[in-house]
Amino acid sequence: MEIRAIDTPLLDWAGEGLALGLFEDAVELTGEIAQLDEKFAGVLKELIAETEFKGKEGSSAVTRVGGGSPIRKVMLVGLGKPDSLKLDTWRRAAAVVARLAKKEKCKRLGISLPVWNNDPTATAQAIAEGAQLALFQDNRFKSEPEDKGSGVDQIDLLGLEGQDEPIARANQICSGVILARELVAAPANAVTPVTMAETAQAIASEYGLQVEILEREDCEKLGMGAFLGVAQASDIPPKFIHLTYKPESTPKRKVAIIGKGVTFDSGGLNIKGAGSGIETMKMDMGGAATTLGAAKAIAQLKPDVEVHFISAVTENMISGHAMHPGDILKASNGKTIEVNNTDAEGRLTLADALVFAEKLGVDAIVDLATLTGACIIALGDDIAGLFSPDDGLATQLEKAAEAVGEKIWRMPMEEKYFEGLKSGIADMKNTGPRPGGSITAALFLQQFVKETAWAHLDIAGPVWTDKENGYNSSGATGFGVRTLVNWVLAEV
Ligand code: BES
Ligand code: MN
Ligand code: ZN
Repeated sequence: MEIRAIDTPLLDWAGEGLALGLFEDAVELTGEIAQLDEKFAGVLKELIAETEFKGKEGSSAVTRVGGGSPIRKVMLVGLGKPDSLKLDTWRRAAAVVARLAKKEKCKRLGISLPVWNNDPTATAQAIAEGAQLALFQDNRFKSEPEDKGSGVDQIDLLGLEGQDEPIARANQICSGVILARELVAAPANAVTPVTMAETAQAIASEYGLQVEILEREDCEKLGMGAFLGVAQASDIPPKFIHLTYKPESTPKRKVAIIGKGVTFDSGGLNIKGAGSGIETMKMDMGGAATTLGAAKAIAQLKPDVEVHFISAVTENMISGHAMHPGDILKASNGKTIEVNNTDAEGRLTLADALVFAEKLGVDAIVDLATLTGACIIALGDDIAGLFSPDDGLATQLEKAAEAVGEKIWRMPMEEKYFEGLKSGIADMKNTGPRPGGSITAALFLQQFVKETAWAHLDIAGPVWTDKENGYNSSGATGFGVRTLVNWVLAEV
């Protein structure tokens, strides 16, 4: 599918489907749209009246244009009230029309939306992102896909001539989001620690990143007892992935992005029971998928920032080699952990990844993890929990997420709750009481960061959606890639 910004006037454009955006309660046609309506013998006015189209955000209407017109279908999409204009409305509107065009079998789609906030560059990027993300369809595991490709093979952005760069940027970012979605959606017998390492290597060789894969023995030498404790019951070897993007000029800052990479979480000997959603636990590498997706996008966008992409990838399984509940592990910073619950495994893998990242001497560390069910209970399926002792970094991430339409919400790092992790025998336990479970998880992670600015995003909710939601189809969302990219690109 190709997206182009073209200079054809609205009245002259030809193609199967033309989509027009209208604001809420402002559906009287004016200017070029009124002229277009005249050209189509009043079909737009008729459509608005017939469908009682009010321009509500996300609403749409479609009709056939008869009379040998060079346009087969005309679509309207609502943009909501013009006084609360978020760029994400444009992404969502593009998603609505792209899906409608696909349903209406329009191979070539023209999109004409007003310019957001006098910013044609942001407008073009948002429309290109929304359309691509909505049209992505995963047919990898179907022997005969019901739905072969998107059906839409060309999208023309009208009124945005010259905006080729933002479209290219959208393509690069979406390639990262789609990689993350594909990794998360693939089952645990297709995406394993070994294939995750291969994917990292493939990104490195395609886009010129440095790559280092630490094997079990390398991790042993570094004393990564927490990560290796989780890995010890699996028949598939663990892989510690470290990709590095270095700009050509001296970097303005250096950051590390860490993702939880548990390719399947059985719970270990504290095995997940009936109703626990064990069959969905292929998505427990969502943080690592986001990290690799961000690596793919950032490698193409080439910012002046050095970025390390890290994941300690393993399965959490059971076998005669499994951790016993109650085992004591020693992490690579020397701290000892009593594993009172083998199902709180993500934080064990992240502990060693955080210690590794801090040794790189970066200015900031952000980790993303499908860490706790408790975070879903707190914030629901659409919102990630943001935990950070650093107000500056937290604000940067909030701004980055807001701009791309991903929802994150800052949670408290209530120090007192660390009492719940106190152990009689080791430095700490890995699991606290059920109340405040996402907070104690974050407090646990904090033990493995000494002085670097650090933030943790618990993405257990938004990594996946059961139903179509904006530009996400049901399934893996690729959540976090766009926030991370925007955060790395931002001037701070
Ligand atoms: N991977 C899970 C968290 C999770 C749960 C992600 C549901 C997505 C959906 C994590 O490893 C886990 O099992 N957490 C436990 C922690 C508990 C044992 C302290 C949880 O949330 O129940
Ligand atoms: Mn678990
Ligand atoms: Zn897990």
